[in-house]
Amino acid sequence: MGVSSATGSRYAAFGGYSTADEREEVPLLVYFSSISGNTARFVEKIQAKLGARAVRIPLHSTDADLVVDEPFVLVTPTYGGGQGRGEEKGAVPRQVIRFLNDEQNRSLIRGVISAGNTNFGEHFCIAGEIISRKCHVPHLYRLELFGTPEDVDRVSEGLERWWKLQ
Ligand SMILES: Cc1cc2nc3c(=O)[nH]c(=O)nc-3n(C[C@H](O)[C@H](O)[C@H](O)COP(=O)(O)O)c2cc1C
Repeated sequence: MGVSSATGSRYAAFGGYSTADEREEVPLLVYFSSISGNTARFVEKIQAKLGARAVRIPLHSTDADLVVDEPFVLVTPTYGGGQGRGEEKGAVPRQVIRFLNDEQNRSLIRGVISAGNTNFGEHFCIAGEIISRKCHVPHLYRLELFGTPEDVDRVSEGLERWWKLQ
């Protein structure tokens, strides 16, 4: 299905493997979620609605690196923005940085969806801004925590339409 780890084992998407036809209809979602699991909850809802495949960036540095070989949309939470180490330092989870430091992975990103918490004010969802700027891809959507039903509807519909234009 186009997703493998550095050790050669394969990460099954939530919904298992899909056909080539499905691949053209809906994007692969690559996401990170910490142990609080908010982003994972959102991605599961998108997957249920859209039938998109999704694969999770490993949490621990001892886990095998994730390497993808097909275009994808990244879904990432924001962490640590504005913590006194520079406005943007720490906002993109280090696991996501590590994933994007792989040249092949970076070449396949087509868009980014960010999650955050509006309590962080001007730092709300800035991980998406940073990735959009650095990887030259659109920042498709910002959502709070695990998203509302409206977020799920908007992202599902938007992704389906947008992906067909890619
Ligand atoms: C230590 C910490 C720092 C955070 N920093 C930000 C931030 O700068 N901007 C933001 O929008 N959200 C921030 N958040 C909120 C998270 O992005 C939000 O809770 C998200 O849903 C976490 O996703 P996850 O459970 O999938 O890891 C922060 C949360 C924590 C715990």
